[in-house]
Amino acid sequence: MPGARFLGTGLAVPEQVVTNDDLSRLMDTTDEWIRTRTGIRERRWVREGETNAGLAHAATLRALESAGLEPGRLDAIVYATSTPDHFAPGGGVYLQRMLGTGAIPSIDIRNQCSGFVYALAVADAFIRGGLYRYVLVVGAEVQSTALDVSTRGRNTAVIFADGAGAAVLGPGDGGRGILGYDLHGDGTYAEKLWVDAPGSMYHPRMSAGQIEAGRHFLEMDGKEVFRHAVTRMPESVRAVLAANGYTTADLALLVAHQANLRIAEMMQKALDLRDDQVYNNIERYGNTTAATIPMALDECARAGRLTPGDLVALTAFGSGFLWGSALLRW
Ligand code: UT7
Repeated sequence: MPGARFLGTGLAVPEQVVTNDDLSRLMDTTDEWIRTRTGIRERRWVREGETNAGLAHAATLRALESAGLEPGRLDAIVYATSTPDHFAPGGGVYLQRMLGTGAIPSIDIRNQCSGFVYALAVADAFIRGGLYRYVLVVGAEVQSTALDVSTRGRNTAVIFADGAGAAVLGPGDGGRGILGYDLHGDGTYAEKLWVDAPGSMYHPRMSAGQIEAGRHFLEMDGKEVFRHAVTRMPESVRAVLAANGYTTADLALLVAHQANLRIAEMMQKALDLRDDQVYNNIERYGNTTAATIPMALDECARAGRLTPGDLVALTAFGSGFLWGSALLRW
């Protein structure tokens, strides 16, 4: 059975541009430090009123338009986010309500930076198995409201950002479609990149004391995450290529999770890829967690960087730790 293929993509980001200089007015940091360590120049952060599901909706409308489909043609939604608008329900139903699709099923994937790759695997399984024909896959995040913008939180606040990417998937055809996956998780490192509260293990789920202590902020051991990311992603890309009888020389494009430009550069070197085989946009958007891959794919598709039949790999690493790759014929 052929895997699902991309029929259309879309991207949406908040209006507000936050530059490195803007951040240096909030915390002890500099444009030079941020650019040198991460490659980021600016990112988008929501203003009050802009929401995770709202960004997902805007990205979805663009994806549907490029696929030439009306919302009513969608059979299911797979929504990757680690930052839903509410603790429950997840983002999928809010998006479904905004789209006015009718009572189609939706499923939220809470796999953080690897969320889109996992969401793709779920949507692909639905389509491959014949359960659904057109499945919307979304990666949407609002990280800015979980960032400590004081000097205490500067190692995460300068990296993470908001945005959404969407893709409409349909049945593969003529050799075009998803070829395979390489997916992993290792909870040994769960607390290396996490948000502690609110959590159902606490009574109540979040206390004034926890807020005081900043337990609701995204917390990361940056060095440890970096060390694993630069090993796991190249390893996973090689694995998915080898499992399908290819090498890195066969790749037209690698779209990797945009965590840090230095990670992307080390990965490019480790995989011996030319500049035209990789795509990075972290400079303009920062790290939007589950949204980075669909946002980058949309930019590549619209810029003519993807031609039908191209061999494309997607790879991600992040909180969990969870990581993995997908390989496809565009
Ligand atoms: O998307 C999911 C996966 N996430 C990632 O892959 C992120 C991986 N990690 C990273 O990208 C890097 O670890 C960071 C860019 C986040 C941090 O870089 P680092 O070189 O690992 O810095 P560090 O946290 O070890 O801190 C080194 C120094 C510290 O100062 P001292 O203790 O040496 O005096 C920090 O306080 O840099 C300081 N520092 C900063 N200085 C200015 C940390 N953040 C900043 C900042 N501005 N924003």
